[in-house]
Amino acid sequence: MKKTEKTITGSVDPDVLEFTVGDDPILDRELVKWDAAGTAAHVTMLSRMKMPKGVPPVVTPAEAAKVRRELAKVVKEFAAGKFEIREADQDVHMAVERRLTETLGDLGKKIHTGRSRNDQVAVDVRLHIKDQILALEEEVAALASALCAFGKKHSLVPLVGRTHLQPAMPSSVGVWASGHAEMILDQVANLEAAYQMNDLCPLGSAAGYGVPLPLDRKLTSDLLGFSRPLHNVFGASMARGEDEVALLSALAQLMAVISRLAQDLIIFSMPEFSYFKLPREYCTGSSIMPQKYNPDVLELVRSKTATVLGLQVAALSQLHAMPGGYNRDLQDSKGLYMKGISVTRTTLRIMAKMVEGISIDEDKLRAGFIPGVFATDAALRQVAAGVPWREAYHDVRDHLERLESEDADAAVLAKRHIGATNGLDWRMYAGRISALEKEVAKRRKAFDAKIKVLFS
Ligand code: ARG
Repeated sequence: MKKTEKTITGSVDPDVLEFTVGDDPILDRELVKWDAAGTAAHVTMLSRMKMPKGVPPVVTPAEAAKVRRELAKVVKEFAAGKFEIREADQDVHMAVERRLTETLGDLGKKIHTGRSRNDQVAVDVRLHIKDQILALEEEVAALASALCAFGKKHSLVPLVGRTHLQPAMPSSVGVWASGHAEMILDQVANLEAAYQMNDLCPLGSAAGYGVPLPLDRKLTSDLLGFSRPLHNVFGASMARGEDEVALLSALAQLMAVISRLAQDLIIFSMPEFSYFKLPREYCTGSSIMPQKYNPDVLELVRSKTATVLGLQVAALSQLHAMPGGYNRDLQDSKGLYMKGISVTRTTLRIMAKMVEGISIDEDKLRAGFIPGVFATDAALRQVAAGVPWREAYHDVRDHLERLESEDADAAVLAKRHIGATNGLDWRMYAGRISALEKEVAKRRKAFDAKIKVLFS
């Protein structure tokens, strides 16, 4: 018989402990602040809970205040590298309880009353995800802003529009850049959907079946800044994992959009095109070929996109065959969503810097305008003279040799309708970006204020 290791929840085989704990002591470092906040709210609620006549409160308001002050200390100690999650703790929840019991004695032993690690971790994850979505939205705004600045600066510079990668019609650097910016900004809707989904409070569902105590679930939800509690206790426990999938699917879609931007930049900066020049310090060399400046950053954005797509599938796969109620499978989705956040955030940041450093080669951009690029415009001139479209189309197609190189700048100026080369609304883009920044700042302020009150 192997020696067993003691934990708060009993003695277990050391290999089992290692296997079941997994990466939690490392991953849960992201959750220390949120775990402390969740506990502060829970203990505050316990102290205000309306007990039946003659039954003493679980903790008094003064004791709750003492716990909150201690929790604030834990957060500070953690930031200073003085609080650690040990393997025997299993996770952040037990580590915090151990720490509070060390310093507060019996009071520390009361904090878990009417709570399970199941609703506790669910609340931690949701607070963490809400915080991270705000950071992601700030970074989305920064990337969109960099693209719009680049696009506005070179707004009317001609660029060959392509379909099937083949030269298609006259376009502009402005249309290209703001097109990518708009795609990225539109992804905020998916991040917002994930935010709404994570803005519901599972605390008080305990192990997934509630407890025979007069918990005030509305109060904990309010104290933590959630929009409302998840109503059904069983549903609240089932929602664990769904919240992470909502986030990962938003991240996957966002990354897929950014990956296409990266792909365009790889192509347009190839020597054969040379439309754009990537900042030198953003390209890496070769150990054998002295002439090389490779777009490694952009290639890695492509591969990281594949990673995030995989994370989404992995998280959803964990859920699809799991029976209702808590199952330990759920622990493994934590690493997936955290990886998704870190990969997407570094990608957003590096891409914003990359875009800021791109320069253009106007001669090369103009040189791309072979006569065929003007074929549709030529047919439309016949339409203006009264020829039915399909006849004009066939006339041009039957005599492609007659096409001549035209003035690319004039072609760019000629398209004036909404969103075309000469119809871009730069003020609209600036307005959308600043509205997003303002909304995020407002929400961040309200969120921070709630958390601050909990620790005071
Ligand atoms: N570390 C665990 C997780 O992330 C905490 C919940 C453990 N609950 C349980 N019933 N074993 O899911």
